[in-house]
Amino acid sequence: MSLQQKAEKNVGVLIVLVLLVVSVGALVEIVPLFFQKSTTQPVAGLKPYTALQLTGRDIYIREGCYTCHSQMIRPFRAETERYGHFSVAGEFVYDRPFQWGSKRTGPDLARVGGRYSDDWHRVHLINPRDVVPESIMPGYPWLQEHPADASLIQTKMRRLRTLGHPYTTEEIADAPKQLEGRTEMDAMIAYLQSLGTAIRTRR
Ligand code: HEC
Repeated sequence: MSLQQKAEKNVGVLIVLVLLVVSVGALVEIVPLFFQKSTTQPVAGLKPYTALQLTGRDIYIREGCYTCHSQMIRPFRAETERYGHFSVAGEFVYDRPFQWGSKRTGPDLARVGGRYSDDWHRVHLINPRDVVPESIMPGYPWLQEHPADASLIQTKMRRLRTLGHPYTTEEIADAPKQLEGRTEMDAMIAYLQSLGTAIRTRR
């Protein structure tokens, strides 16, 4: 009996050999990504979220916006024509966790920053049909009524700093003041307006 026949007739040995082959394939593909500059270094001009943007990001997660919106432009013509430059890894270095998503009931938001005015977003988030009559997006009118929560902002920024987000001590000390008198709506809009702006896109 050849070695191959022996291996194929012994389930235990076969399982171990298959796992070995699959894991080598995975390691060769995945491990270099941890050491490549293009996947681990922030793109030029990328800044960590400000206190207000960070608060908006947490509301984006709380409200489940990611269940309808992705933040990941794939490198295909149909995508780049519509949304702008495709997403690159270095744009997401300060996204923990990233909001790439996988569901596009609504459009991709990776480069929505600067596409509309703050006022457009305010009207749209209160009742999308006021600006896009055929929209099926739900309204989020309460964002306008709730003050932005400052109670955890410094803790969050400190934690992110331990993970490598370059917040200065002054920025962290100043964070609650940045949220003073601001609503959840202000925070959400600040977040949306920051999305994808580190890379210049032709649009
Ligand atoms: C049920 C699915 C759904 C949910 C949940 C949802 N959206 Fe939408 N969104 C849409 C659809 C559909 C559109 C396209 C029509 C329109 O502009 O209203 C859209 C459009 C948008 C746009 C305009 C994008 C563009 O490029 O024109 C923004 C910004 C946006 N949504 C933000 C949000 C935010 C922020 C949340 C969470 C608070 C959210 N959406 C939740 C479905 C959704």
